[in-house]
Amino acid sequence: MAAPTGLIAGNWKMNLFHAEALQLGTDLAERMDLWGRPPVDYLICPPLTLCGQMAAFLAPTPFKVGAQDVSPLKNGPHTGDVSAEHLADLGMAACIVGHSERRRDHKEDDALVRAKAEALHRVNLTSIICIGETEAERDAGKTIEVVTRQLQVSVPETSHSANTVVAYEPVWAIGTGRTATVEQIEEVHNHIRQMLYDRMDFDGYAIRILYGGSVTAANARDILFAKNVNGALVGGASLKAETFWPIIEAAGAVAARNLREAQQA
Ligand code: 13P
Repeated sequence: MAAPTGLIAGNWKMNLFHAEALQLGTDLAERMDLWGRPPVDYLICPPLTLCGQMAAFLAPTPFKVGAQDVSPLKNGPHTGDVSAEHLADLGMAACIVGHSERRRDHKEDDALVRAKAEALHRVNLTSIICIGETEAERDAGKTIEVVTRQLQVSVPETSHSANTVVAYEPVWAIGTGRTATVEQIEEVHNHIRQMLYDRMDFDGYAIRILYGGSVTAANARDILFAKNVNGALVGGASLKAETFWPIIEAAGAVAARNLREAQQA
């Protein structure tokens, strides 16, 4: 089976303001004009304040725009919350759910993450469902157990390859400069792939599984070439074109390999 199209997603978290965001968008578009467009999918997830403007600004480019969180509810008296319907209205293509920073800061659990993903699917938005173990869980030898539970509960019945991306982000690797090794990444990604296949049959092969956690220009190639890695969810390195573009180029190299393999098959 052909590998799914790669996806490079930038999670800006709570960073950048209008002028910086427009500059970054301009810089990325310029690189694309100069150096071509690697055949992968592109997404950035800015703070909500910038989402509408970035969607309009990047409309002529292949970059799609997503949000970083959503309410599971449709509408009503929920001050401060934003529904999937609002995100669709804003021109979003996707939304991250269950990021470990939200699980940590807002006590989000797997059932809530599933409800959020379902809300996105209701309006045909892609859910990027994040899972990953803490350092204590890894040290206790519980990585596979934790990831299994998170995946089982967080991924709803409405998920399929066209509306769901799974992001494996080991919590200890996020923002720390401590990237997981290729062996650690492949062990978890292979397990996730098997679980998706068991649950969704062949469509489980087509779901993109991203790695996230201190992905940089220096390690992107090794990570993206790993088995069952279909792209990256990039935090810090997505905030500047100089550091984000090389990751896109690395994904382009993987796409070229996949094409060669498909032609040989
Ligand atoms: P860093 O790339 O900054 O480690 O962040 C990863 C992340 O959390 C992406 O969602």
